[in-house]
Amino acid sequence: MVNTKVTLSGLELDNPVIPASGTFGFGYEFAELYDINILGSFSFKGTTKEPRFGNPTPRIAECPMGMINSVGLQNPGIDKVISEELPKLKKCFNKKVIANISGFSVDEYSYCAERIDKEEQVGIIEINVSCPNVHNGGMAFGTSAENVAKVTKAVKEVTTKPVYIKLSPNVTDIVSIAKACEENGADGISMINTLLGMRIDLKTKKPVIANKMGGFSGTAILPVALRMVYQVYEAVNIPIIGMGGVSTAEDVIEMMLAGATAVQVGAANLVEPFACKNIIENLPKVMEKYKIDDLKSIIGGAH
Ligand code: FUM
Repeated sequence: MVNTKVTLSGLELDNPVIPASGTFGFGYEFAELYDINILGSFSFKGTTKEPRFGNPTPRIAECPMGMINSVGLQNPGIDKVISEELPKLKKCFNKKVIANISGFSVDEYSYCAERIDKEEQVGIIEINVSCPNVHNGGMAFGTSAENVAKVTKAVKEVTTKPVYIKLSPNVTDIVSIAKACEENGADGISMINTLLGMRIDLKTKKPVIANKMGGFSGTAILPVALRMVYQVYEAVNIPIIGMGGVSTAEDVIEMMLAGATAVQVGAANLVEPFACKNIIENLPKVMEKYKIDDLKSIIGGAH
């Protein structure tokens, strides 16, 4: 019998598999398909202070081995998330959830983080400084060590729960950004968000996506994510939730060997709604195949 349990900042998870923000709604939609209590946890849709309608359509472009999205942080706003989404989730998910928070100013990040910190079902607050699809927000904070430091510090001042900063791969030196998070009190790092990309329609000769560019995710980005997790693991002493192109139990193990303590699964949920369930069911078999008794023991094992 293998042990799939991992621990993130004191929060014990039955397994390291966590659906990534923006690919799993607020959970209850997927609870119609399977019992989502098998998940380690999940990260809910990036939430802002005000409700957001999101970007104009088309927002999605298909690509070989992936997709581009430019959703634009569509969400009902922090008030409704607290008053409507979390109570619905509570009926079908009895574990702690990861609250993904985004914003357009340092004040907005700290306002939303302070509000969500009071919610009993929230186990970890994930600060999204890496959404590539909004102007003057999201990624604008995550591509500068100075800005990421300000957001991290402000959020830590108003919260009691572990704070993980979700980083953008669209930077020259992700290690310096991760270090700025750690130096300013972050409890962990989530990485990576999507890579800025675009596609052009040959018939119209114009960008496929209305917003021209969007975030590229899917199996094609796994090697980039692994490289970045590997680099950051060598530079910081806080846990990493690894993500980017993960779609199989083997990918989960690879990500943990690079240095991740837990692993988020994103675009795969949009291709196969049962992706996380399949990964969780396969994980013990793959562990046995590679002679891994305890998942915790392989974290950073490739170094
Ligand atoms: O456009 C979006 O809502 C994407 C968010 C993200 O990548 O963090």
